[in-house]
Amino acid sequence: MSLESKIKQLEEKHRLAELGGGQKRIDKQHSVGRKTARERINDLLDPGTFVEVDKFVTHTATDFGMAENKILGDGVVTGYGKIDGRLMYVFAQDFTVFGGSLSRANANKIIKIMDMAIKMGAPVIGLNDSGGARIQEGVESLAGYADIFYRNVRGSGVIPQISAVLGPCAGGAVYSPAMTDFILMVKETSYMFVTGPDVIKTVTHEEVTKEELGGAMTHNKKSGVAHFTADDDEQAMMMIRELMGFLPLNNMEDPPRKPCTEDPEREDPKLDAIIPTDPNKPYNMKDIIHSVVDKGHFLEVQPYYAQNIIVGFARIDGRSVGIVANQPQVLAGVLDIDSSTKAARFVRFCDAFNIPLITFEDVPGFLPGTTQEFGGIIKHGAKLLYAFAEATVPKITVITRKAYGGAYDVMSSKHIGADVNYAYPTAEIAVMGPAGAVNIIYRGLSEEQKAEKVVEYRDNFASPYKAAEVGYIDEIIFPHNTRKKLIQALEMTQNKSDSNPPKKHGNIPL
Ligand code: HXC
Repeated sequence: MSLESKIKQLEEKHRLAELGGGQKRIDKQHSVGRKTARERINDLLDPGTFVEVDKFVTHTATDFGMAENKILGDGVVTGYGKIDGRLMYVFAQDFTVFGGSLSRANANKIIKIMDMAIKMGAPVIGLNDSGGARIQEGVESLAGYADIFYRNVRGSGVIPQISAVLGPCAGGAVYSPAMTDFILMVKETSYMFVTGPDVIKTVTHEEVTKEELGGAMTHNKKSGVAHFTADDDEQAMMMIRELMGFLPLNNMEDPPRKPCTEDPEREDPKLDAIIPTDPNKPYNMKDIIHSVVDKGHFLEVQPYYAQNIIVGFARIDGRSVGIVANQPQVLAGVLDIDSSTKAARFVRFCDAFNIPLITFEDVPGFLPGTTQEFGGIIKHGAKLLYAFAEATVPKITVITRKAYGGAYDVMSSKHIGADVNYAYPTAEIAVMGPAGAVNIIYRGLSEEQKAEKVVEYRDNFASPYKAAEVGYIDEIIFPHNTRKKLIQALEMTQNKSDSNPPKKHGNIPL
């Protein structure tokens, strides 16, 4: 073969690989509102930075006439590139090739970049769009999934792992995204379930559509499996870029600090009046968050799920922080099963990746009721307590109003290792709310006498001053100074060095 033909042959192989399952299947993908694997990678990475690996890999199956049916790349595009100039590894399942299904060869490609990512210390972003196990390959495909799961676990807490679900993701295949740090789904074009509507109908006689069972809003709102929703593939890629901006590349690095053009001393007089005088009146905790973070920009994680707690990323004076905040507007900001597990997972992510934690607290306690008790609020609430206690990153807490009962201890209190604990003058820190307390300790009194005792209790005990007297609160701050105080605390704690006793691993109450 002449040199010229060799070059032509290489060009032709590139062309064929890039065509995936062919123009007809690409058109079909577009017609249902989904982009191809390569288009998604283009949207995700900085222009011109993608380096593809294993572009000419083909499967090795021979059954079912597969020997004659090979497509270069075999249904997944893998490689590495950059987001904001930082190294990222990517795999994107190509639905136009055998429905993006997982073959042995295809799994090997994913495994190769996962191994590299763990070795080089850079995140893995998986773009999932697949019919699941390659039916023609049987156990080889199942083995491929297990090899991926194994690496998801090995890499957990070492490198950030992000999954976008951009099409089907069913059966055991869901467990790879499930073990990554964040799952993003696209509305109306993606779904995840362990068993689909047909199997469910046969087994339980329930009738449910794919969208109801495992669509983006189901997992973002009901199940809490997913963390973000996007309207389309392009927005999904932009959201991943934004998320990566808050994260370090691996657990040995600090998160990136961006230049901050805003005044670190910026005061917000509105905050002095934000807490209603009536303790039963709600307010929006997000107003406080938006006021104190750089440019008011807050990337909320799981905004639709367990809305009584707010979690997400922001920057304060350019530093990446993880925020956990009770939301008095929803269920009075109470801790329940869902909010405890939501926040616990977020706290553990931040701790694994050196992201300081800022907690805004206004919590009347744990949600009472048989549903919660039978559902195991004891062990689920314990997850949040465990997560905060175990976290060794800088921990800063601001009690804005209620900090009652066990919830006071749980929400990053001084006693479980918080470094700086602030309270607003409106804070109420006590074993329980005034009405409950008076009913117990003054049981015999008349209603009028009890009302007087409630006022007395509120003035004397439901305040931050008792806690400040004993040093459990470091400082009672003027709300308008919250941003400045957080910046001081972040600066003071920036070289914090703390670790848990050596152990194989703890035993978080699962
Ligand atoms: C091989 C597959 C495939 C699969 C789809 N295709 N799924 N090939 N193995 N698992 C192929 C189809 O043959 C078709 O090829 C092309 O991909 C597109 O599929 P369509 O059915 O035409 O697309 P659509 O109508 O959009 O339906 C998508 C789908 C459906 C809902 C995903 O294809 C489907 O139900 N597939 C099977 C899903 C499944 O049961 N997978 C196994 C799950 S168990 P042509 O050549 O016609 O374009 C599992 C276990 C994992 O995954 C275990 C881990 C522990």
